[in-house]
Amino acid sequence: MNSASTEPPDFPMQRTCPFDPPTEYAQLRRQRSIIQVRVPNGQLAWLVTRHRDVRELLTDPRISSDRTHPNFPLTEEVTPQSRRNIAAAGRSLIGLDHPEHGPRRRMLITEFTVRRINDLRPHIQQIVDACVDDLLSRPRPVDLVPVLAEPLPARTLTELLGMPYDDRDLIERAATAMLRRSVSPQERQRTGAEMRAYIDRLVTAKEAEPTEDLLGRLVVTNRRTGLYDHDQMVGLVQVLMVAGFESTVSMIALGVAGLLTGPRPVSDVVATPEATTAAVEEMLRYFSVADALPRIAREDIEIGGVTIRRGDGVLLSFASANWDDEVFPAASTLDLRRGARHHLAFGYGIHQCIGQNLARAELEIVFRTLFTRVPGLRLAVPLAQLPFKRDSNLYGVDALPVTW
Ligand code: HEM
Repeated sequence: MNSASTEPPDFPMQRTCPFDPPTEYAQLRRQRSIIQVRVPNGQLAWLVTRHRDVRELLTDPRISSDRTHPNFPLTEEVTPQSRRNIAAAGRSLIGLDHPEHGPRRRMLITEFTVRRINDLRPHIQQIVDACVDDLLSRPRPVDLVPVLAEPLPARTLTELLGMPYDDRDLIERAATAMLRRSVSPQERQRTGAEMRAYIDRLVTAKEAEPTEDLLGRLVVTNRRTGLYDHDQMVGLVQVLMVAGFESTVSMIALGVAGLLTGPRPVSDVVATPEATTAAVEEMLRYFSVADALPRIAREDIEIGGVTIRRGDGVLLSFASANWDDEVFPAASTLDLRRGARHHLAFGYGIHQCIGQNLARAELEIVFRTLFTRVPGLRLAVPLAQLPFKRDSNLYGVDALPVTW
C-alpha cells in the first residue's frame, strides 16, 4: 500500500504469507489506523485496524449492523436482488440492533451455555474418535479437510439441528456460496433459496413433531413464550448453519497446519487440558479467520483522528486488532502459552459469537485427540504449497495433505 497515494486502497487486502494477516495492517496500525478503503462494488468504507478502536466501536450504539442500509459495506460482488436477499437474511439476528436483537438472541442462547456444551463434550469426543479411526484406515497421504476438519462441525451441526447427515452437502455448498467472493451473485442467490426452502421444511417438521435435539427444543421452548414465529426460527437456523460450519472447519485445518509447523513440540500442546485450552485461544487470535466485520454508522463518530459520518460503512478488522502489539506483545509470534485473553476472534459486544463455547469444545477435543493418537503426524507438502483460501471472507485452506 502506498501511504502517499490519495486513492483509497481496495478491500479486502490480500494475505501474502500463509498465516499472517495482510502486511498492510501493521503499517496502518502504526500510522493512519483508520483509513478509507474501496469495497468490491465500488463503495467507500472506513477500515479500522487498532484493537482499542475495534473494541470501542463494537460496543458503540452509534454503530449498526443494519444490512438493509444501502451503504452497508459488503465485501462480495452484489446485484440489487442479492443485496435485498442479504438484507433479508440479516434481519434474522446478525443484522439486528438493540433493542430488536436481544429477544432474538435469547431464542437461541439457552442451547449454547457452557453447561449445555460441556454435556455435549463426550459426544463430540465420539465424533472425533470416529474421524481419526477413518483417517488411520486410509492410505497415506490423506487430505485432512474432508476426513476431519469438515466432518466434525458438519456432524455436530446436523445432529444439533436434527438433520440427516446425508444432507450435509447443503451446509457445505451454502458456506461456499455465502463466503466465497468468486461465486456469482446469481449462484449465491440460488443456493440461499435452496437452503431456506430446506430449513423451512425442517422447522415445519419439528413444529409438527418436536424431537429431542437442539432445534426441537428451541421450537418447544420458544413456543411456550407465546412469541414464536416460524419465519424467525427459519432465519435463526440459517444463521447457525452459515456461522457454525466454515469458521470451525477453517480453524481446525489452519490449527493443525500451524501446530505442525509451529515453534513448540505438539506433544507440549496436548500434554494437559490447560495447555490445549491456552493453545486454542492463541490460535483463535493468531489465525483470526473472520477478519473484518461490516457495520454502518448511524451518527457522526469521532475516533482515531477521523470523523466517520452518519451513513458511512465501517469495516472492523479483527485480524488486524488481534495482531496489535499494544495488546499482544510480539503479536506476530504464535506463542501457544500466551493464552490470548481479550482477542476478538469471536467478536465483541451484542453480536459476540453465540457458538464460541461449542467452537472451543470442538477445537480442544480435536487437537488433543489427533495429536495424542497420531503423534507422528506431519504435513505431506511444504506449508507454502497448501491451497490457502484467498477468495473467501473466512480464511482457511482447501486441502491439508498429511502423513505420519
Ligand atoms: C472457530 C469458530 C468460530 C468463529 C471464529 C466465529 C466467529 C464469530 C464472530 C466474529 C461473530 C461476530 C459477528 C458480528 O459481530 O457481526 C460470530 C457470531 C455468531 N456466531 Fe460464531 N464463530 C465460530 C463458531 C460458531 C459456531 C460453532 C456457531 C454455532 C453453531 C456460531 C454461531 C454464531 C452466531 C449465531 C452468531 C451471531 C450472533 C449474533 O448476531 O448475536 N459460531 N461468530
